[in-house]
Amino acid sequence: MPKRNDDFFKVKKLWSVVKDELLACYFKPYVAKILTTHKPLVYVDCFAGKGKFEDGADGSPLIALNIINECIHTTSISQTSIQAYFIDLNYAADLYKNLPQENQLIKIISGAYEDKIEDTLSQKDGCNIFLYVDPYGIKALQYSLFKAFAKRAFNSIELLINLNSFGFIREACHALGKTDIDFDADFFDDLVEYDTTELNASDKSIEELTTIAGGDYWIKIINDYKLGKYNGYEAEKIFSEQYCKKLQECYKYVLNMPLRIKQGQHPKYRMVHATNHPDGCVLMADNICTRWESWQNIQNAGQLDFFGGDSENNLISPDRIKKDVLSLIPQFKTDTQINIFLAEFFTRYSPYCKSGQVNDVIKELEKSQQVFIRRDPSKTKTGKQSTFLSFNNETKAYIRSVT
Ligand SMILES: C[S@@+](CC[C@H](N)C(=O)[O-])C[C@H]1O[C@@H](n2cnc3c(N)ncnc32)[C@H](O)[C@@H]1O
Repeated sequence: MPKRNDDFFKVKKLWSVVKDELLACYFKPYVAKILTTHKPLVYVDCFAGKGKFEDGADGSPLIALNIINECIHTTSISQTSIQAYFIDLNYAADLYKNLPQENQLIKIISGAYEDKIEDTLSQKDGCNIFLYVDPYGIKALQYSLFKAFAKRAFNSIELLINLNSFGFIREACHALGKTDIDFDADFFDDLVEYDTTELNASDKSIEELTTIAGGDYWIKIINDYKLGKYNGYEAEKIFSEQYCKKLQECYKYVLNMPLRIKQGQHPKYRMVHATNHPDGCVLMADNICTRWESWQNIQNAGQLDFFGGDSENNLISPDRIKKDVLSLIPQFKTDTQINIFLAEFFTRYSPYCKSGQVNDVIKELEKSQQVFIRRDPSKTKTGKQSTFLSFNNETKAYIRSVT
């Protein structure tokens, strides 16, 4: 039986703030946009917690509900249909207490996500689904469920997953009998929500981890780590990249977003965003970059030091963006919507810069005739050549390689 981690809800810790900010800042423009599809929105907080922390801070359920309410009141869409589900194994009673009961759109579900989610999503074909997946550790993350959701006839589906890939590596080492893990001694100390139930070296553990990872590719990673081909941090990075590749078998655009405490140090968390919609991917990429900037401000206030270069400590420069655009562009032989190109860019190279920065580089490359852009309309109302790089109802830009 996993421990309940009751202390988690005593005081809202910085990591929870960071995760919830990432959710909130994305969720608001997401809801505003998704309502324009005129299809119902189904939001599921799969590991909802108590709704409120004991220090009075809102948990993810109240944060999402406030955004939903705000969007319902500000949207120009006359009829909106939204349902919000909150699943928790341990804290349904707290959710009843902390969430506004008069609100018709709320449904609280007591039980395990892995047992309840299929039922929750039954008869939701044609809806827009958003799943926030914020478990303790990794044990409840069955890849097969994510795969099954992707096959459903939803109008759209997006996942925001707190992937405890460091926990996965630790458990994978236990399962394969690697005892000397070289993470810093205190590495797991502030990962308070980590489920400390350890796996042992057994076939059952290997099977369990394969179910979580969606394949046995992780075994080679750990075996190479055992052979000393790389260290634990590199093993985690390789695992998270391969996990995201695996998710890409079901979702077109998958963002791997590492979060770390100090510049130059290793990330501690991975948030993963999966969607089939290019605009969702680009919105999330811009969101994580904006978050980095704002967390950097926290750092400047002397508290923390999140980011310097990108989240993997690589330097961000126009030259790097240019190199990445030029190596991606040969794949695009025919006119491709600019938002699709950007989503492919961030899925391939990670969201290390904002879409506006990529667009600036693309405009330069257009000038030097290294990429080709077609615009509709090609002229502005005053007869000038259009220069926009966007794709929406009014302005449609397409990109392709010049060769
Ligand atoms: C990290 S906390 C969620 C925190 C929440 N997102 C917030 O910001 O307030 C994880 C929650 O998952 C719950 N939980 C653990 N195992 C679960 C399972 N299998 N299914 C659903 N909930 C589970 C725990 O009771 C805990 O409240």
